[in-house]
Amino acid sequence: MIIHLAPLEGVSDCAFRTLCYNYGADVTYTEMIRVDALVRGNKSTLAMLDLKNDTPTIIQLLTTKPTTLQKFVDVFHLYNIKPVGFNLNLGCPSPDVIREGSGAALIKRVARVQELVKILQQLGLPVTIKMRLGLNAYEKEHKVYLNLIKDVDADAFIVHARHAREKSMDPADWSVFEDILKTGKKIIANGDITKIEDIKHFQKLGINEIMVARAATTNPAIFQVLKGKPKVALPAIRYEYEKLCEQFPNHPKYKENVLKYLGKEMPIKSG
Ligand SMILES: Cc1cc2nc3c(=O)[nH]c(=O)nc-3n(C[C@H](O)[C@H](O)[C@H](O)COP(=O)(O)O)c2cc1C
Repeated sequence: MIIHLAPLEGVSDCAFRTLCYNYGADVTYTEMIRVDALVRGNKSTLAMLDLKNDTPTIIQLLTTKPTTLQKFVDVFHLYNIKPVGFNLNLGCPSPDVIREGSGAALIKRVARVQELVKILQQLGLPVTIKMRLGLNAYEKEHKVYLNLIKDVDADAFIVHARHAREKSMDPADWSVFEDILKTGKKIIANGDITKIEDIKHFQKLGINEIMVARAATTNPAIFQVLKGKPKVALPAIRYEYEKLCEQFPNHPKYKENVLKYLGKEMPIKSG
């Protein structure tokens, strides 16, 4: 099973990604980065391109605009970084993002998403989509997500099994994966994955890649535990993280957020 560390805004900087990689995550992601702000040269946005070592990292981008994305592609070589792929965010539920027709609002804009994917593919690296099941219960019921997965030529689809109105306390709906797998596309499952039994469930379905978010914030060594290796004591994890923060210094908010979640109980899936 290949296990991805999810994009986590305000958390998954170089130090945190490296910590999770050292504890068994196979692939990691930057937090969501707005392409508009990147091409404007916004300093704090550019700082999110913090690929400072060999930790395999995919850059997650938020955009709706082909022209802006093309500008990013044209100047990408100037950033002098080596990601292992790009990911488009079709899951952000924030009202501001939805109002722009971006994030989860893109799930039903199939032609536009295909255009964005084609532009990013010019860079010669895998391009994946991270999506929810629609904007709301209505879209989920009408399976809008299936149209996108069928008609977009992305290298993989990371499906966070909630619609955009659902909160993280609402249980992810894993029953959708059976239909989704019938598309024949490469699927990465996300939502409420916390233990080895969950991995076994997805293996039985025929899914060989999963993504973990909140469970990694409370225990960054969860990746090795999910792979059947021993648990790591919290003080040891914290010590490793402090060392990585010295090695890859960043805005203090990242460390504050990581230490806020570390060792806490994750809300357990109901039902
Ligand atoms: C603190 C936090 C920040 C997040 N930031 C992002 C983000 O930048 N991009 C994104 O696609 N999803 C983001 N998410 C959603 C997660 O990547 C993931 O899809 C969601 O938490 C479900 O996975 P889980 O049940 O394993 O937590 C964020 C989630 C949390 C809790």
